Amino acid sequence: MDEAKLNDFMGKLVSDMGAAALLANVILGEELGLYRAMADSQPITPEALASKTGCNARLLREWLSAHAAAGYMEHLDGQFRLPEEQALALAIEDSPVYVAGGAVVIAALFHDKDKLVAAMRGNGALAWGDHHPCMFSGTERFFRPGYRAHLVAEWLPALEGVVDKLEAGAKVADVGCGHGASTVIMAQAFPASSFVGFDYHAPSISTATQRAQEGGVEDRATFVKGTAKDYPGNDYDLICYFDCLHDMGDPVGAARHAYQSLKPDGTVLLVEPYANDQLDDNITPLGRLFYAASTFICTPNSLSQEVGLGLGAQAGEKRLHDVFTEAGFTHFRRATQTPFNLILEARK
Ligand SMILES: C[S@@+](CC[C@H](N)C(=O)[O-])C[C@H]1O[C@@H](n2cnc3c(N)ncnc32)[C@H](O)[C@@H]1O
Repeated sequence: MDEAKLNDFMGKLVSDMGAAALLANVILGEELGLYRAMADSQPITPEALASKTGCNARLLREWLSAHAAAGYMEHLDGQFRLPEEQALALAIEDSPVYVAGGAVVIAALFHDKDKLVAAMRGNGALAWGDHHPCMFSGTERFFRPGYRAHLVAEWLPALEGVVDKLEAGAKVADVGCGHGASTVIMAQAFPASSFVGFDYHAPSISTATQRAQEGGVEDRATFVKGTAKDYPGNDYDLICYFDCLHDMGDPVGAARHAYQSLKPDGTVLLVEPYANDQLDDNITPLGRLFYAASTFICTPNSLSQEVGLGLGAQAGEKRLHDVFTEAGFTHFRRATQTPFNLILEARK
């Protein structure tokens, strides 16, 4: 037993336990509007924050102190300040680096602990729709800032000839669309095109329909309940999967259905979590986050469906390439990437 290694590991555990506890506090800040009330980055006392937000001043002092200890806020003479950079990540939902929605997804993991215990002892299955409701809203809020920042500006232009088609008027399917964040963003950018979002989770389809109305695109973005292997249509110019193909039980079957549903010169846009092909190359902070989330979310969802391939959220480009090749596609390439995502293109 190496005492220095033990001490190092104890330090890491304390830091991780602190991170988990702090994340529960992040969810409070999110829901109660505390970060938004501090988004101007001015120093504020707990009492002033209490009168601004209607929250209890003594609890706020504790909450603010936790943030100071974590380096999320600055503390000087009894006043606390949310620096501008932290405000971008925690307070400003329109910012491209807003990640507070991710804390809500992580809350769902704790809510669903007993379901995972049962899945681990059983066949490994836990369907998307059986998660705590905060999983669905958290996923939408976690992913939407990235789609807003990159989808129209970078990802679609990285595909061969797709933007021209979208500008002229194309037919697009967004498969596994969830709350339709990606669908609505594309519909807002390309008014001449028509978009259909498909998802097998009925409550998500209702929310997505509402989002299209809120976004003023209900004339060109519609949402229909359907699985990745049975949605209608055989003349799509573009079929998209945003962070969902690896969640499916039968991704090869889904890709085969896309092959049949695309026009001869159509394109698949596959957005997946960033990953290298081998576990040993994913021993990174991002790999830790994605494998840990995938244990609770993506992999059990896949195991709940037919075939149950269980790609997991760290599938990597090679395995995804093999899925599309097996389905009949002859072109497959990495179109672009971000620190969080691989953006892949498949054509017939
Ligand atoms: C992680 S969420 C991503 C949702 C959305 N694309 C986004 O980026 O916000 C995965 C989605 O895939 C859907 N899904 C999983 N398996 C599916 C299947 N076989 N057919 C259709 N939808 C499926 C789930 O219902 C869920 O909405």
